[in-house]
Amino acid sequence: MKVVHTIEELRDQLRGQLRVSFVPTMGNLHEGHLALMKTARQHGDPVVASIFVNRLQFGPNEDFDRYPRTLPADIEKLERDRNVYALFAPDEREMYPEPQNFRVQPPDDLGGILEGEFRPGFFAGVSTVVLKLLSCVQPRVAVFGKKDYQQLMIVRAMCRQFQLPVEIVPQETVRAQDGLALSSRNGYLSADERAEAPVLYATLQRIQAELRGGRRDVAALARNAADTLSGRGWNVDYIAVRRQRDLLAPTQEEVDRGEPLVALAAAKLGATRLIDNLEL
Ligand code: PAJ
Repeated sequence: MKVVHTIEELRDQLRGQLRVSFVPTMGNLHEGHLALMKTARQHGDPVVASIFVNRLQFGPNEDFDRYPRTLPADIEKLERDRNVYALFAPDEREMYPEPQNFRVQPPDDLGGILEGEFRPGFFAGVSTVVLKLLSCVQPRVAVFGKKDYQQLMIVRAMCRQFQLPVEIVPQETVRAQDGLALSSRNGYLSADERAEAPVLYATLQRIQAELRGGRRDVAALARNAADTLSGRGWNVDYIAVRRQRDLLAPTQEEVDRGEPLVALAAAKLGATRLIDNLEL
């Protein structure tokens, strides 16, 4: 695998390639990321991965400084799987040589809700860096995980609206045996917190089971789920049942008609904020 740190080296490596498949990450790679690389390999060739911890998407009180940076171990994992042809690992000066005054601002109705409500500026930071990375790599396909459901939708909508010549391919969420969605932030959990963490997914599964069992009051289901987590010591940002197509709340009629829905949750265990979702 070629490891390149500058846009110029990246362009040299990719000259003339028309079927590039791209996976952007912030590193500290786990099996979820590696699944994206495999999916990318099935959709194009060569595969390019990136590792860049993007300051723009972190709030002032978030974990930018302590976000795990594990480049040598990440390179080893990518080498072992042999799916990736080139890793682009720019430093901050390469990605932001001047203050990034031009930003991509997602619409409020998609970027201001759920994660966007609790992390102001987050999706503008993500959209801006994803646009820049797409412009550096110029892939035909890019793969994003459903673990970050709203991010996937926003990236899709951005690419569609700017008519970028890239197809966005979704990857199912990869989980630990006990159901916890893999995440770089899981490493922050204490042993006790790690034991409690799968309850987040179990709570979403419970909503799914109740809906399948005939319950139709989705707002009440979400409220009960939040109460359950709070009662166990979680600090819940949100649990919501939304329409898959635009993440807005469904009307009762839509629920009754079988509109495709998704349950989304964000909650803190101690100092660690976890997110998850489940299509219902
Ligand atoms: P990061 O959190 O490193 O995630 C990189 C990609 O891996 C995202 O598409 C994310 O959805 C996916 N991913 C993470 N955990 C996953 C899991 N358990 N199963 C499946 N996919 C998973 O998301 C980002 O970085 C950044 O916001 C980025 C898009 C790179 C922009 O900076």
